[in-house]
Amino acid sequence: MKAKTSKLNPIWGGAFSQTPADILQKINQSISFDTRIAKYDILSSKAHCKMLAKSQIITQKECNLLIKGLDKVAKKIATEKLSFKTELEDIHMNIEVALTEIIGELAGKLHIARSRNDQVATDFKMWIRDAFAMLDNNLKQLQHTLVNKAKEHIDTIMPGFTHLQSAQPVTFAHHLLAYYEMFKRDRSRIKSASARLNECPLGAAALAGTSFPIDRKMVAKELGFDAPTANSLDSVSDRDFALEYLSTASICAIHLSRLAEELIIWCSKQFGFITLSDAFTTGSSIMPQKRNPDAAELIRAKSGRIIGHLNGLLIVMKGLPLAYSKDMQEDKEAVFDTHDTIILSIAAMTGMINDMKANKQKMLQATMGHATATDMADWLVKNLGFSFRKSHKIVGEIVKIANKRGCELKDLNLSLMQSIEPKITKEIYTVLNIATAVKNKTSFGGTAPKKVSQAIKLAEKYIRSKHNR
Ligand code: ARG
Repeated sequence: MKAKTSKLNPIWGGAFSQTPADILQKINQSISFDTRIAKYDILSSKAHCKMLAKSQIITQKECNLLIKGLDKVAKKIATEKLSFKTELEDIHMNIEVALTEIIGELAGKLHIARSRNDQVATDFKMWIRDAFAMLDNNLKQLQHTLVNKAKEHIDTIMPGFTHLQSAQPVTFAHHLLAYYEMFKRDRSRIKSASARLNECPLGAAALAGTSFPIDRKMVAKELGFDAPTANSLDSVSDRDFALEYLSTASICAIHLSRLAEELIIWCSKQFGFITLSDAFTTGSSIMPQKRNPDAAELIRAKSGRIIGHLNGLLIVMKGLPLAYSKDMQEDKEAVFDTHDTIILSIAAMTGMINDMKANKQKMLQATMGHATATDMADWLVKNLGFSFRKSHKIVGEIVKIANKRGCELKDLNLSLMQSIEPKITKEIYTVLNIATAVKNKTSFGGTAPKKVSQAIKLAEKYIRSKHNR
């Protein structure tokens, strides 16, 4: 077959005499999605360029021309004047060819002592570093919204559940703050993953390092990394940072999904704990009475998609020998889609939390069903010196009587209680009141309004502090 030399790859086509098959180009390209790292590719190229000049590998004049050219390419990209070409595979080669069109052959010097392997790892790390920062900031806003809502409900009583069975009364604020804590841990995961990520792969070149006298520390510093990566093979084959982004996002998505599930349950007619306004509900095309919490349902569903991406990349990486393999190009779409999805989910959740109105009456009503039985047992322990097991048994008998009569514990006559345990006095009624039961949970981390107010103060301080990442 006659070679179509005009279409040979201008970057790596030297030893080739035939053009790649269309289908190879189609499967091989990443330009349809890696334009998202363009900004970082320009930044890392400029840093590399400065270092080449400082190390006298290129002249200062060449460096200036390269940097000017790169700025022009950046401008073309920003103004959408650069038409990306599939036959140039990826963002790195598209930028290099665009630079060649602007400054000519000198552009070829930019690739001294580097490879696309260390280039892509560097660019992608920088992208993820910023994505982490954005994720952190959006989580902070969600935390803020949760805390503000909690402030309105320090005294709002609802049933706390175990097994989705009404267990013990808690405050609504306390329940909301539980999610504040989850997002706080998510943010702490972001902080530690961001710190681990912050080593610069550039200068590892293809896999072995380079014989040029480069200054990797300078490049790392210039690009805001703490240090250069220590091993050239690891530098180009590590995708832990992408996996950590995906796993952090997955755990966060699970937290969002659990909260979404609660909103869905709470706004059902049967529960009626909260109401979402028209702004956050949709109607049914057939059932006029319906108000559906679609955003919450989609947040719940999107967690599956995010976890899918984590799973996908884990499987891509599993069994890859060192160093770079093209398999790794599959890292980007997983991370990009995860990022877009988690950011969207957090924004929708923030909107819903802001929007929801609590129906205090409904919440309180739902605490019916002996939610203070444990408080009664605690009273027996404290006042009669019984063991908790013995007290539990006695209260069990009393609950049986209340069930038979179809009433709450607080509505039972003292004599009925005394028929089970004669030493019980009327003082026991003080702990059978729901509000008192809540007020008494003053242990650290407990649901007593006094404790919840303190937790809110701490949360507000944390949210305000700059260095919590
Ligand atoms: N587009 C590639 C990626 O995302 C860049 C690295 C290509 N390296 C190579 N040796 N073909 O992974």
